[in-house]
Amino acid sequence: MNINLWRRALARLHIFTKYLRMANNNSGFSSSFGAIMAAAGSAIGLGNIWRFPYICGKYGGGAAIIVYLLFVFLIGMVLLMSEFVIGRRTGHTPMKAYEELRPKHRNWRYVGLLGLITSFLILCIYFVISGWTLNYFWESVSGTLASIADGDFATHFAAFASSPVAPVVCLVIFAALTLVIILGGVQNGIEKVSKILMPILLVLVVLLCVRSLTLPGASKGLAYLFSPDFSQLTTEGVLAILGQSLFSLSVGMGVMIVYGSYLPKNDGIFKSAMWITVCDTAIAILAGVAIFPAVFASGQDPAGGPSLVFNVLPVVFNSMGQVGSMVFGGAFFLLLAVAALTSAISLLEALTAWGAEYGKKRSTSAILLSIILAALAVVAAYSYEGGLLNGFKPAGMSLFDWLDTLTGSYLPPICALLTIIFFGWFMKKEEIHDELSNHGVMKVAGFKVFYYFLVRFVAPVALIVCLVAPLIPAIKELIASIIS
Ligand code: TRP
Repeated sequence: MNINLWRRALARLHIFTKYLRMANNNSGFSSSFGAIMAAAGSAIGLGNIWRFPYICGKYGGGAAIIVYLLFVFLIGMVLLMSEFVIGRRTGHTPMKAYEELRPKHRNWRYVGLLGLITSFLILCIYFVISGWTLNYFWESVSGTLASIADGDFATHFAAFASSPVAPVVCLVIFAALTLVIILGGVQNGIEKVSKILMPILLVLVVLLCVRSLTLPGASKGLAYLFSPDFSQLTTEGVLAILGQSLFSLSVGMGVMIVYGSYLPKNDGIFKSAMWITVCDTAIAILAGVAIFPAVFASGQDPAGGPSLVFNVLPVVFNSMGQVGSMVFGGAFFLLLAVAALTSAISLLEALTAWGAEYGKKRSTSAILLSIILAALAVVAAYSYEGGLLNGFKPAGMSLFDWLDTLTGSYLPPICALLTIIFFGWFMKKEEIHDELSNHGVMKVAGFKVFYYFLVRFVAPVALIVCLVAPLIPAIKELIASIIS
């Protein structure tokens, strides 16, 4: 064989092994900015762009936003700080972190394990939905969506999501992208990519806001999103908003414990958590400003809920003409894909770092996990409505719906509750103070209030209510049937 060909092949192999070596070298984030961008990248995800706006619209607009702000700053951020403290103090992934902090109470490590299992399941479903966003990005920029009639988007989506090939190809591409970034390592992969992608995401969302606000009739959309209507703010709504505030900050599954272990030692934890919470909330509100005025301007139904993104918004983009649909539709689905990618990275990183802590090389751990996750994601994709495996319904729900319900409603608040109980009642106050103040270097005003009031009482009680309240009707029924 031609000797040059051999040489080139060897050079490629060399680049590949160098890349894998990079993957195995992990020394945490190199700068505060990089750390904040990476954690904000984890927090800002599909939840900000489609879930937050529709929850606000549904439960009273401005009234819901006020409640959201209270929850996200008083409870979400407290959880974020506690995960950062646990992670940075120990420098470990969740299971080992709990074990190291309380060696005499080794069972706490199962809370870490539950968080990792939750991350694993979330990532399966994230791969599927993110794959859809890649497909819609491609269909926007290639002009396919522009050629579809307004009434046909729901059928188009159903046909796509249930087809045997397209969703699988998309999810495999997305999983491969995530894997490549993780293989780049924490600094050269995650941190570098987040520093580039997060500013792009901000530009895209602002671009879409400007377009949306300059459409005729935009003010109706703003009124829907912002004008407070307290009569819509039901108990169910308050619980949904609390759940969303935790989901949105990615807390309750230990991913932020892993990112906490990469935080630079001299960064203030309070300051970092505050920046992340502000960025996450700002993007969620901007997403609402980008979406609702456009939905109203084109006469669509704002209560479309989860289907809004794939069934309703393409109609909105089509009303802007062929080029408008390609440019703004393309920008929107790119925004979704970027947001999803930085979240998926953090989930895969948490699992990879866990594998690495139990003796696997980072690269081996990442590759193996990606293959298993992608395979399960294919099964989940096929179990979606109309798919090949949709007929298989254990306990009445498809696998996709099971994953969605477990990861959306139950597992994160359970893990969050256990985490905050550990933090408030099992960690020593001095330990927490020491970490928050960077070993006494920084003054942490308000620490006592934070500790006693929020950490020990407000956050656990809110989480217990959040978990128990949906069960109340069933409990009442049970009691009634016992009495009668
Ligand atoms: N915060 C993400 C969003 O808003 C979703 C999410 C929940 C998540 N938990 C996570 C992302 C853990 C990454 C890691 O869409």
